[in-house]
Amino acid sequence: MQTPGEAVCATPGETQALGARFAAALEEGAVLSLEGTLGAGKTQFVKGFAAALGHEGEVSSPTFTLVHEYAARVAMVHFDWYRLEEAADVIGLGWDDYLAGGETLLVEWGDKFPELLPPGVWRLRFEIEGEGRVVKWERTA
Ligand SMILES: Nc1ncnc2c1ncn2[C@@H]1O[C@H](COP(=O)(O)OP(=O)(O)OP(=O)(O)O)[C@@H](O)[C@H]1O
Ligand SMILES: [Mg+2]
Repeated sequence: MQTPGEAVCATPGETQALGARFAAALEEGAVLSLEGTLGAGKTQFVKGFAAALGHEGEVSSPTFTLVHEYAARVAMVHFDWYRLEEAADVIGLGWDDYLAGGETLLVEWGDKFPELLPPGVWRLRFEIEGEGRVVKWERTA
């Protein structure tokens, strides 16, 4: 996966396909911060990512449950920081243990607490453009 990069996703299926591309390209233990407004396609991306790794169940924003763990071909953990008010709330969910655990981590609204994102995180920005979505990403140093 090139960094930085950009993709135009005209449909939800194309956003899922972008997620699948990332799943194929990234190593287990990658951390992805999925950023952009409500409805921008972050969860659609995670759906495609998880399905590509063999997850067959549902994928939804953990807006209220905060964390969803998926037993796909790699262990994947899906966070949503939308409702969290301070970094301490994220720490309280065991964030440091997740980082140390080597699972693949996908964080919706990761830009709320950028100080918690580790070196090497992939930051993806989802923007609504008419009917479609534009996704821009970079891997930080
Ligand atoms: N090109 C597209 N890519 C992704 N989703 C699209 C696209 N076009 C329309 N949609 C619709 O936009 C919505 C995207 O919802 P999604 O749950 O992925 O957003 P989200 O970024 O996770 O929002 P939230 O912050 O509320 O969790 C879905 O209803 C989807 O069908
Ligand atoms: Mg979502």
